[in-house]
Amino acid sequence: MNSTFAPVTVLGLGSMGAALTRALLRHDVPTTVWNRSPERARPLAAEGAAVAPTLAAAVEASDLVVVCLRDHAATREVLASLDAAALHGRIVVNLSSSSPDEGRRTAAWAAERGITYLNGAIMVPTPLIGSAEAVILYSGDDIVFEKAQDRLVLLAGVADHLGEDPGRAALFDVAMLEVFFASMTSFLHAAAMVTANGTSAATFLPYARQMAELGGTVFEELAANVDGDEHDGTEDNLAMELSALDHIVHTSDEAGLDGTLARHMRHLARQAVDAGLGADAYSRVIDMLRAGEGHHGPVSSATR
Ligand SMILES: NC(=O)c1ccc[n+]([C@@H]2O[C@H](COP(=O)([O-])OP(=O)(O)OC[C@H]3O[C@@H](n4cnc5c(N)ncnc54)[C@H](OP(=O)(O)O)[C@@H]3O)[C@@H](O)[C@H]2O)c1
Repeated sequence: MNSTFAPVTVLGLGSMGAALTRALLRHDVPTTVWNRSPERARPLAAEGAAVAPTLAAAVEASDLVVVCLRDHAATREVLASLDAAALHGRIVVNLSSSSPDEGRRTAAWAAERGITYLNGAIMVPTPLIGSAEAVILYSGDDIVFEKAQDRLVLLAGVADHLGEDPGRAALFDVAMLEVFFASMTSFLHAAAMVTANGTSAATFLPYARQMAELGGTVFEELAANVDGDEHDGTEDNLAMELSALDHIVHTSDEAGLDGTLARHMRHLARQAVDAGLGADAYSRVIDMLRAGEGHHGPVSSATR
């Protein structure tokens, strides 16, 4: 194979490791693969991957080793089973998911062993891997990122390095997932209210979509308010928004639904209003979140 790319080794051939391998093969990158259960390598061998007989042979085949295992514990277990010198002179990019803390711990663990190491977080499902829309975030040593970048961009069109903190890729992963799950859950609660009142979710959909599209602009304002620690409520304020939140809770209750999410939103707004901050913008709620209220179990009966 006459490739313009240096070789890559992929450790871990679950659905994501296989997708990463296929993206590399599509660009004629000489790709060596290894998996704990060898049978998972078979289809990839038929597609052009070199199947290493052992983990050590897999690592020896390339200067860039991409790890995509279930989690960081599995990553450390697999890497620790190699001879200390096996990874010297190679770059290990770990795309297994983790929490920010664990990402930092694995990076420190790798540094202690002299392993040149970078954390990554995959933000898209397998069918998008290798496409321009795919997003993989990286954090840790930027020189390592630069060295591997020409091949990392083959895995995802958006391959952003977020800085030297090795936990930041996982932090953004977690933060993006929160936005994703909260949006989905609020849509589902809204759909439950709508369907309980005899309308279909599909009828409501275009209006929900309109709100979701507003999100980009609204997030921009929220981010500016949070970073500037200014919460100007001239256009709309918490005292006014509290009654909208009340309406959500009542409509949810009338339909006999689990209104915990709506109650919690109202609880946060009410706390701010009770603290004399009712004239501020909704972004003021960040102070309530930072104070840790709501981490102590269900919303108190006083707010029901
Ligand atoms: N799939 C997705 O859509 C997606 C999206 C974003 C991020 N991710 C992340 O990508 C990573 C891999 O996901 P996946 O979907 O490929 O998972 P998967 O299909 O469940 O595969 C898990 C992989 O980890 C290996 N493994 C687990 N424990 C191991 C151990 N102790 N020693 C050696 N190998 C071990 C498995 O080997 P065996 O085959 O031998 O069991 C397999 O190769 C995860 O961290 C996941 O969170 C996945």
